[in-house]
Amino acid sequence: MAGNHFHYSKKNAIAYQTLGIDGTSYEFPYREAERILGDLKGQKWLDFGCGTGRSSTFLLQLNAKDVTAVDHDQNMIGQAVSIHAGQSITFHLIEGTIPVPDATLDGAFSSYVFMEMDSLDLIGRTMKEIARTLKPGSRFVSLMHNPAACLGHDYVSYTFPDNKSLKSGDPMGVTIKSLDPFVISDYFWTEEDYQQVLTAAGFEVRSVTFPRPTSGTWIDELIVPPGMVIYARKK
Ligand SMILES: C[S@@+](CC[C@H](N)C(=O)[O-])C[C@H]1O[C@@H](n2cnc3c(N)ncnc32)[C@H](O)[C@@H]1O
Repeated sequence: MAGNHFHYSKKNAIAYQTLGIDGTSYEFPYREAERILGDLKGQKWLDFGCGTGRSSTFLLQLNAKDVTAVDHDQNMIGQAVSIHAGQSITFHLIEGTIPVPDATLDGAFSSYVFMEMDSLDLIGRTMKEIARTLKPGSRFVSLMHNPAACLGHDYVSYTFPDNKSLKSGDPMGVTIKSLDPFVISDYFWTEEDYQQVLTAAGFEVRSVTFPRPTSGTWIDELIVPPGMVIYARKK
């Protein structure tokens, strides 16, 4: 499933690792995911595109019994392994295939991953591979940038290019405002794009939500929700 993908330098991986959740623009989608997922006690979960493990530890905090965390970027996985040694997370560097037998996991989570894929075909094949690992009826929660947020908005944790005419598949640089800021090469995909590929991959979309704060020291978070949360179930 190799694609033309963004490579994180070691410096980028360390910068990404310092982001966290609370007090960042990621806080609202993560709290919404927490509300949807509830207690994962005793369950085995997949974290697809785990990066440096922020999303994997989130699943452990919800009491997941163990987490299979996969990513295709050597520097992100390397950073994850060095930070999370000793926790119930198994990290795998992958290129397409998830090293898990069919229908063995209780759920899947994916946080800010699909915008890095350069074609709907790749997103669709990846979602099918995720579906393969899940037991029937399992939940799949995915966090993405809100497509409306991508049209030139500025948030506490990231800034999008000022381009109101982005359409599906257009490349867009997203500036991550870590202590050491850097630009990720993402792609613009709409809610309909994700819904279409999820359905084709064998999921039923249960909800699509756009959480945001109503007060506080935020920037455009107060105007346009920064994230989108898609909750689906494997049929
Ligand atoms: C923006 S980071 C998010 C990391 C983590 N989920 C989090 O929320 O902190 C996106 C991650 O997805 C990974 N990724 C993107 N496309 C992927 C693919 N096709 N297969 C595996 N990993 C992928 C990237 O390498 C990167 O580590």
